[in-house]
Amino acid sequence: MTILITICGGGNAAHVLAGLLGDREGFSVQIYTPYGDEAKRWQDGIQRNGGITVNTPTGKVVGHPRAVCRDPGPAVAGSRVVLLALPAFAHETILRQIAPHLSPSAWIGALPARGGFDLCARDVLKEGASDRSIFGFQTLPWACRIQRYGQSVGILGTKDQVDLTVWPPKLAPIIAAMMQEALGITLNPIGNFLSLTLADTGQLIHPGVMYGLFREWNGQPYKEPCLFYQGVDAATAEMLQQMSNEVQAIRVALEKRYSRLDLSAVRPLGEWLQRSYHAVIADSSTLQSSFVSNRAYEGLLAPMQKVDGGFIPDFKARYLSEDVPFGLLVTRGIAELAGIATPIVNQVLSWAQNRLEKDYLTTNGLQGADVCSTRAPQRYGFDSLDRFVLGMGYL
Ligand code: NAI
Repeated sequence: MTILITICGGGNAAHVLAGLLGDREGFSVQIYTPYGDEAKRWQDGIQRNGGITVNTPTGKVVGHPRAVCRDPGPAVAGSRVVLLALPAFAHETILRQIAPHLSPSAWIGALPARGGFDLCARDVLKEGASDRSIFGFQTLPWACRIQRYGQSVGILGTKDQVDLTVWPPKLAPIIAAMMQEALGITLNPIGNFLSLTLADTGQLIHPGVMYGLFREWNGQPYKEPCLFYQGVDAATAEMLQQMSNEVQAIRVALEKRYSRLDLSAVRPLGEWLQRSYHAVIADSSTLQSSFVSNRAYEGLLAPMQKVDGGFIPDFKARYLSEDVPFGLLVTRGIAELAGIATPIVNQVLSWAQNRLEKDYLTTNGLQGADVCSTRAPQRYGFDSLDRFVLGMGYL
């Protein structure tokens, strides 16, 4: 039996999925990409290239999507699996477009999910949403970049293993096995979406390092772009440690209150770094040395724009615009429900919201006007921890 998969998105991740899944026997792939003129560019590219080529360090595969659609109806009708290969800020828009056309038995997955994906999906899918099957990857399995639009994409690196969570939990073994087989990567099912949200280390590292690098920026251009991970100094490493400690405090409080809640995947930052990169970290004696001596991070630059006289920080880049409203702010919202103080996270968020020109965090908590465009639990009306944890089925 052939499984119909719809890939939503037209960027790097969508190209990799289209190439890999479009090459696999037993799968038939459609693309849904309503953004700008992307559908036309895919169609032209596929025709010219004869498919989507994925170039890996060891070879290449060519996938053949059967259709590229701009309209949501034909894109998802009859699809068994719908994959959102999108930045988190596009999840809600795309979900709203496809929701009326989804088969009730479709599995809807996000790669990566980022924080609060389940909150967004339940809100959009509305009635019967808790019967819907959704899943999320902790991260994208690949570092990848489009080479020619609609034609080829390069995989620069593949993660050894990726955490995944599934609702309802009983489907986890089935969905994990299917996606693992389809993508050829190791997937590690973890307890619930709450773990996925709290365990996201990008929400700490990206806004935290931006704060460390640029909190004292005086508006003058830098001569050269700044190194991102290798720019972590002792003070920034200490701050990242404290942010991680605050997340651990949330974990401990939640586990204490709900003895059946499994948050074992929410690891301290240093442990996560070792687990993910131990083979390429030359000096793991401190958190700072684990960043600056990590070969996987070598030479990676902070998001900056070229201007007359040099380079200035790009505060609209995803390290803030994705990792704050769909990451750190979600965690901050959970801390607020749990009554856990997060002074260092607050400090970073207060700085970041100014740079993003948003109003999230007020002296009374997450009550700013822009909370409505985030995935913090408060945005979805959760005002008590019990209602949140029990209502979302995390136990
Ligand atoms: P991308 O920047 O290539 O994707 C952009 C695509 O998203 C656009 O081509 C468009 O199809 C869609 N899109 C953007 N704004 C939209 C809007 N307002 N409405 C509808 N669609 C919109 O992103 P990429 O690289 O594919 O990444 C996807 C996710 O994976 C992101 O969350 C990214 O942070 C994450 N990620 C990516 C990695 C990589 O190496 N590319 C590595 C690790 C994580």
